Amino acid sequence: MENITKNDSVSIIEELENRFKIIYEEKPVKGYFSPGRINLIGEHTDYNGGHVFPCAISLGTYAVLSNRDDNLVNIASENFKESGVKSFNLNNLEYSDSDDWLSYPKGMFKAFADEGLELKHGFNILISGNLPDGSGLSSSASIEMLFGKILNSQFNNIQSGVKLAQLGQKVENNYIGVNSGIMDQFAVEMGRAGYAILLDTNTLKSELVPIKMQNYKIVIMNTNKKRGLKDSKYNERRSECENALQLINKKANFKSFGMMTNEDFDEYNYTIDNPVLIKRARHAVSENQRTLRAISVLKNNNIDEFGRLMNASHTSLEYDYEVTGDNLDNLVHSAWENGAIGARMTGAGFGGCAIAIVPDEKVKDFMKIVGKNYREKFGYEADFYIANISDGPQEMEL
Ligand code: GLA
Repeated sequence: MENITKNDSVSIIEELENRFKIIYEEKPVKGYFSPGRINLIGEHTDYNGGHVFPCAISLGTYAVLSNRDDNLVNIASENFKESGVKSFNLNNLEYSDSDDWLSYPKGMFKAFADEGLELKHGFNILISGNLPDGSGLSSSASIEMLFGKILNSQFNNIQSGVKLAQLGQKVENNYIGVNSGIMDQFAVEMGRAGYAILLDTNTLKSELVPIKMQNYKIVIMNTNKKRGLKDSKYNERRSECENALQLINKKANFKSFGMMTNEDFDEYNYTIDNPVLIKRARHAVSENQRTLRAISVLKNNNIDEFGRLMNASHTSLEYDYEVTGDNLDNLVHSAWENGAIGARMTGAGFGGCAIAIVPDEKVKDFMKIVGKNYREKFGYEADFYIANISDGPQEMEL
């Protein structure tokens, strides 16, 4: 998979229209796209009241649909052709294990209904994503925000972007059962071409920061080692942080690790009294401080220092937070040795993707050698894509 251009997305939509006609024996009336995301720095800080710095990318999820005049919602996915058309009724939006991938769209319908927003009719829908799923590029938030866009525009509900992101997070937390923060949905929903989003997860205040890549590319490196957050150690990390903060707050009063400086942490870490929890908390504090520093050097166009801070972020995630694993470490370490000025895992970790900032003229050789090292160690391929920073969810012309 390479860069997705405007022309590619036109042909993806055309292909979807044709498939839709075969599946539903009618023409779709609307088309939509919702991006995925990468996070440049600020990892596992969003549920710790810290800062994140993600951007939306041009890989994402597409949908075409037609309206129905009853309460049935039919959805087929080109990524799960074997499951055929799956359905639910607007009168019963409760979670069911057997729904599998359908839980993401269905959860969004439920979130809208829970807000008291009227769901006036059902749909026939076909979706298709070019984000590798389980790869840490937020395929689930992409689907959630796709349906946020569909429901908002179809029913003129006019929810704000922040509200839609919050509804998506609610689906993850209460419907799917992953205790994730707000970063992914916010990044997907508020994404803007050419900008990354500095988000303070404590206040939900955000700022668009232009990403001028000078003579560099952001290369996404996919381990092709899938993980579902539901069965990863994601929820465990979150509760470790909560426990550590509680221990600190026997002597102090910090609302979150996002409120602490590295000096504060030095002063109070003795209260934690548990080597594992100390490491988790140290990451939460240092990563937030590092993110703020990274943004300030980037604003001064110091991309080299930004790269070094990315490396430091990975090291903290590898040794203190312990969410990287052999596959991600291999790609990142090998990126450091082969011309990247910065590289780190992105997203939750435990497999999935890493990103690297690589000088334009080295990109080709970089992918070749890092790919070769990976194949030799693991016996299967890593994939490489160039990240295109893109806009949030949008309607597509049919
Ligand atoms: C996942 C979660 C996010 C965030 C990242 C780690 O992507 O969905 O909320 O916690 O992991 O930074």
